Amino acid sequence: MAEEVLRTADGREKTALSRRYAAQWQAARADGNLPEIGSANPPDRPARPAEPALLDPRDVPRRRPGTEAGRKAILHAVAHIELNAVDLHWDIIARFTHVPMPPGFYDDWVKSADEESKHFNLICDCLEAMGSHYGDLPAHAGMWRAAEDTAHDLMGRLAVVPMVLEARGLDVTPGMIDLFEKAGVSDAVAAMQVIYAEEVHHVAYGSKWFHFLCGRENTDPKDAFHDLVRRYFHGPLKPPFNEEKRAEAGLPPDFYWPLSEDRPLGE
Ligand SMILES: [Fe+2]
Ligand SMILES: [Fe+2]
Repeated sequence: MAEEVLRTADGREKTALSRRYAAQWQAARADGNLPEIGSANPPDRPARPAEPALLDPRDVPRRRPGTEAGRKAILHAVAHIELNAVDLHWDIIARFTHVPMPPGFYDDWVKSADEESKHFNLICDCLEAMGSHYGDLPAHAGMWRAAEDTAHDLMGRLAVVPMVLEARGLDVTPGMIDLFEKAGVSDAVAAMQVIYAEEVHHVAYGSKWFHFLCGRENTDPKDAFHDLVRRYFHGPLKPPFNEEKRAEAGLPPDFYWPLSEDRPLGE
């Protein structure tokens, strides 16, 4: 199932398949069954539609956020992030089946993948209501880099994807909600509030399974997190941090502050 989602290119088709398979998994689990985990051969990079064109972040045109064009560009960038997130969650399911994990690991990422699929669709609906669509603007290339860099390291994947990248989403989403509130774009406000509420537990799942693996290996989670982020994530973490939501998601300040540009490493 995960591999099939990863190999589907069109965004709406990918998310429809993702939601259907998530519902199948959840129905089986609700009946007390555990579907066989099996093993997969996920592609190095997930299939993506011909559009949007993927550009180096420096070449993506910047638009002023206070304009209609700027709001479209923000929604387009969020749709791109959500589609990438759908693939990231199915990829962690498909890629690490050689590491024995409790069934809850799969429950958590199936639920997350389902929610990311919903997020992509909600944001696409907003774009379409503005006369745009996903694919209308260029998008950042290189979003899959974190997945490639951690393709052979489950703890590295958990550290960098949910605990760094998705946690960053908690930091920046309130500002985007404000921006769309001021502009009176109520469907975008509602979509971003759903995203903001649900992303907290994606980060929490990352922290939960990271701590689980540290416990299995008897390593200190904070030291392991610092080592892995320094190895796989390129550059410092950017404050301001949403300490409240990060705390709710099980990310203590001493995990991320030492990795921020405000405090050089080793301080
Ligand atoms: Fe999301
Ligand atoms: Fe997420």
